Amino acid sequence: MPNTATRKILVTSALPYANGAIHLGHLLEYIQTDIWVRFQKSRGQQCHYVCADDAHGTAIMLRAEQEGITPEALIERVSRDHQEDFARFGVGFDNYHSTHSDENRYFSELIYTRLRDAGHISTRDIEQMYDPQKGLFLADRFIKGICPKCHADDQYGDNCEACGATYTPAELIDPVSAVSGATPEVRTSSHYFFKLPDFADFMQNWINDGHVQPQIRNKLMEWFEAGFNEWDISRDAPYFGFEIPDAPGKYFYVWLDAPIGYLASFKNLCDRDGLDFDSYWQPGSDAEVYHFIGKDIVYFHALFWPAMLHGAGLRTPTAVNCHGFVTVDGAKMSKSRGTFIKAATYADYLNPEYLRYYFAAKLTSKVDDLDLNLDDFAAKVNADLVGKVVNIASRCAGFVKKLGGGTLSEHCAEPAMLARFIAAGDDIANDFEGREFSRAMRRVMELADEANTYIADAEPWVLAKQEGREQEVLDICSVGINLFRQLMVYLAPVVPAMAEQARAFLDLETLDWASRHKVLSHHAINKFKPLMTRIERDKIEAMVEASKEDLVEEQKLKDAPKGALAADPIAEEVSFDDFSKVDLRIARIAKAEYVKGADKLLQLTLDLGGETRNVFSGIRSAYAPEALEGRLTIMVANLAPRKMRFGVSEGMVLASANDDGIYLLSPDDGAEPGQRVS
Ligand code: MSP
Ligand code: ZN
Repeated sequence: MPNTATRKILVTSALPYANGAIHLGHLLEYIQTDIWVRFQKSRGQQCHYVCADDAHGTAIMLRAEQEGITPEALIERVSRDHQEDFARFGVGFDNYHSTHSDENRYFSELIYTRLRDAGHISTRDIEQMYDPQKGLFLADRFIKGICPKCHADDQYGDNCEACGATYTPAELIDPVSAVSGATPEVRTSSHYFFKLPDFADFMQNWINDGHVQPQIRNKLMEWFEAGFNEWDISRDAPYFGFEIPDAPGKYFYVWLDAPIGYLASFKNLCDRDGLDFDSYWQPGSDAEVYHFIGKDIVYFHALFWPAMLHGAGLRTPTAVNCHGFVTVDGAKMSKSRGTFIKAATYADYLNPEYLRYYFAAKLTSKVDDLDLNLDDFAAKVNADLVGKVVNIASRCAGFVKKLGGGTLSEHCAEPAMLARFIAAGDDIANDFEGREFSRAMRRVMELADEANTYIADAEPWVLAKQEGREQEVLDICSVGINLFRQLMVYLAPVVPAMAEQARAFLDLETLDWASRHKVLSHHAINKFKPLMTRIERDKIEAMVEASKEDLVEEQKLKDAPKGALAADPIAEEVSFDDFSKVDLRIARIAKAEYVKGADKLLQLTLDLGGETRNVFSGIRSAYAPEALEGRLTIMVANLAPRKMRFGVSEGMVLASANDDGIYLLSPDDGAEPGQRVS
């Protein structure tokens, strides 16, 4: 083996927002990144792949309110869903964390205070639209009105979808808050700014230094020419996020702490696995750091983020790798056409590895959009993976079983051809390394064609019928199996589940890149099972139909009045027996405390007349802890314990809520802790 040092590589994908499902557009990114990471690991590099949910911001706060749950509950549920989706698609993060985490609060405060202490933060008053009914400053996209230019109704924020005009929200005719319908007013509040112009030279050098793709560099240079301003990094309460140190009521804008989530997730991994965080993030580090992102979030990653890191005395990324957007059948994904396809919906109908292969077959290192043409998708996967690759193994396996008792020939009958297949791995590796997956897949399929031609020309099935040619047939098929094995080494980063089955069939320890050098002779293989079946057209159609159904479900949520989903007035009837399964008890609140890192929760110690319980309750906005200690309430005592970030919650207290507050239930005087309620 050549004695090249192992590379230390940290890789991230963008952190998906915690208020929506993963869809096929997102998956392009996670699949692209995962293929690259699996390739690095196959090559023996020390590579870590981290991600997290992007859990903060107004959209998430409002979504939780709409569902009648706390933001914490929402982000916890969405995180589970996201991770389940990623797992189904074989996206193998080494860690999946959240921006609403202790680590992220720590690094956000650290970076912010370092920037502030170095003089890179300023404050000034700005005027903004305010929703007096909700008590909320409104971002542009939460304001609707009539276009001042063409008078089209129902236009959002700062541009008109009908005529394309751009304007300030204040210029909209009859503006209303999209949140409450109230007429917004202009209000002043002080904001915190990151002084980007301090980093103009730094950023210009950075983007000219090979850290971004040429197309991205050109785009960013235009931005430089247009000139740029300080970046507003604060938002007023109420906001779901982290409060800015020494700035009560001011929160970090979600985009400030989102990229810091990369550090937080990696730190969390380091603490778990005993890795040295600083050796990755100190200036001058010998580790490589790569961010994979979509083209819509380039500014944040290629300008603001390096400037923040640099300003805070941390190393900057080795590269930001940007991809284009997914279109389906040549158009933007559309909910009404059923081409806005969620990951989970896809996986209910089709093998996720079909999609991984198709994306790989179309991905380059460029920023171009990628069209998922559903006809082409079926045709390509069927022709390549099933028709070419699987076919090699299925044509040869039977003869090896029958004529060699499952063991391959002693000697390779085509050493030159096999040597070429092995050597091709160097070019293919270069393609993977440079994110030219499409070229890599083309090379692999050319090899597959060659292998199939070899077998077709040799006609083992014809020879098998002739007396005394058994060894020849076994030799041919042993070559075939060896060629197939080479292809699976090259495809393993793209189709890991299929590769795992192939590895088991070939009875190998590993399909790592280097393992391919050892030719399989006199090697026993296992029984062949079809590794992948053809895509059926009707499954695709069913998936598109199901995606239209998803739209109907979402519309229900949008139309539902606030909180209606939690407080459904026509809750399903339960039998008396079912109801009596709920063990309601009188409880005394022995202790109530704030929970670090959770602005909605209080931690309650409940006394049940001898026994005590630890319960986390989302009542912080309505009650000061001191006010609760000593009072009686009612709890569900036999609720299954729930593991939360802060600890285990062993039950719940009963409360009611409306727009104005939260109301904890209490028994009349004389009730005793521990008494059953029925
Ligand atoms: N939360 C931010 C990222 C913060 S990173 C510090 C965000 N989230 S997102 O959920 O909207 O998008 C996550 C990633 O998926 C982004 O890189 C985005 O570009 C990518 N994509 C979202 N829709 C996409 C397509 N239709 N096609 C390709 N990529 C897409 O942005
Ligand atoms: Zn208009």
